[in-house]
Amino acid sequence: MKDVMIPIRGKEALQVMREAGARLGDVFLHLADFVRPGLTTLEIDSWVDAQLRRRSLISQTKGYHGYRHVTCVSVNNVLVHGVPSRHVVVQPGDMVKVDVCAAWKGYCADAARIFLVEPVSRQAFSLAKAAEAAFDAGVAKLAPGSRLYDVSSAIQSVIEDRGFGVVRDFCGHGIGRRMHEDPEIPNYGVAGSGPLLREGMAFAIEPMLTEKSFEVFVDASDGWSVFTRDGGLTAHYENTVLLTANGPEVVTRIDSR
Ligand code: MF3
Ligand code: CO
Repeated sequence: MKDVMIPIRGKEALQVMREAGARLGDVFLHLADFVRPGLTTLEIDSWVDAQLRRRSLISQTKGYHGYRHVTCVSVNNVLVHGVPSRHVVVQPGDMVKVDVCAAWKGYCADAARIFLVEPVSRQAFSLAKAAEAAFDAGVAKLAPGSRLYDVSSAIQSVIEDRGFGVVRDFCGHGIGRRMHEDPEIPNYGVAGSGPLLREGMAFAIEPMLTEKSFEVFVDASDGWSVFTRDGGLTAHYENTVLLTANGPEVVTRIDSR
């Protein structure tokens, strides 16, 4: 395993990340009331763009490797990195996953939510619940002195116990001044192994699940959208989490979801 240096943040930096997280969490809180059938995913992106500006949040995805949007909006069999489009219209029964990374005073917050548009299938509902439960199980393992793959392993167990697939091709990540920092956080792994966890670390934990096979591919036509090979549904749920003296703190979740 390659050696990773995981940055340790002081109290001031953690406080800024807390505030960045609260601001982004507030955007998602309001987004839940906005997403509805008939909207295009580009309209969702424009709405989020305005909400970020209003809160002095700076998008970290616009301009990232040529990406042009403040959100990724991934519907149904698109797992992550769905590119907002005026041709994709939200339909009844859709699973709409919105992912946003933005900075406040130089520190990033990264989060994703799953919006279930009624009437939603049992399978879609179960998959979304599994994503949240996997996240919670992972966070519960975050403690100084523990190992990173304790988190990974806990996430994997919840997902596989419920009969769903764990995506291998994409991971969570460290976060701070940049959107993506060390370490990579796989959603599968062997408990008791991986980098040592310490107070002052910050992570974006983001389980990615599939209904059936975990095999995915990047769409050649837009170069971003990640689809399941078998066309199955997907879920992706993400928050920014600080490891503090008082344990893990989920800073982007002010909506109790
Ligand atoms: N916010 C995403 C993450 O969770 C990454 C966005 S990729 C980009 O890591 F294409 F939108 F830039
Ligand atoms: Co992320």
